[in-house]
Amino acid sequence: MTARRPLVAGNWKMNGLRGSVAEVEALASALQQRPAPACDVMIAPPFTLIAQFAHTTANTGISIAGQDCSALAPGAHTGDVAATMLADAGATAVIVGHSERRQDHFETDETVNAKAHAVHAAGLVAIICVGETEPERDRGETLDVVKGQLSGSVPDNADAVNTVIAYEPVWAIGTGRTPTTDDVETVHATIRECLVTRFGAEKGNAMRVLYGGSVKAANASELMAVANVDGALVGGASLRAADFDGIIDAYR
Ligand code: PGA
Repeated sequence: MTARRPLVAGNWKMNGLRGSVAEVEALASALQQRPAPACDVMIAPPFTLIAQFAHTTANTGISIAGQDCSALAPGAHTGDVAATMLADAGATAVIVGHSERRQDHFETDETVNAKAHAVHAAGLVAIICVGETEPERDRGETLDVVKGQLSGSVPDNADAVNTVIAYEPVWAIGTGRTPTTDDVETVHATIRECLVTRFGAEKGNAMRVLYGGSVKAANASELMAVANVDGALVGGASLRAADFDGIIDAYR
């Protein structure tokens, strides 16, 4: 078994104003006052706050990520943000293929793959999201959907340093519902198998696979204890330092 250092990443989505830096400062001080968790800690604020949060978290052990980026190089693309710009602002990772991007912006696996390429080219870590919708789950298609998204969205140059996978069942996001730990284990085992088959045992076993969807302090320890769950991608419960720190507690 390859040792994988877990990652707890907070996805702030379209939330946060400049004053929200107080939550990041509170998290940094909570991390400093307590025993260091055995995991990496990351926050993905909206684009507008990346530079400020990167400045605030310097030397705190908290890293900063973008929530999306363009697949294109800088140029005439109004409203888009290049991965190189996120790197310049202080981000070290970018979430790509989140289900809200796939749904609201019709992003396909091909788009997500191109974005992950751009993230890698900028020297950043791509956090690539996959997950089934509720109708797909009801039809028993979960594993096929996840396998298809993985094979389409993860670029060939992916490895454990430049890529993290996040399994997020769409029906569990923001709903307070979570799969059973048995279901999480089954999907994560399938993802591991796909990664090992495609990238070989060494790389495939070293890549981190996060679980996301209604993770909170009350269920984090149980979910994080599941085999092949290497941390969490957290939405709502990452907005407040105390809640997010309660999730990080799963690794203390
Ligand atoms: P949630 O969101 O924790 O609010 O369910 C998770 C996500 O979308 O990454």
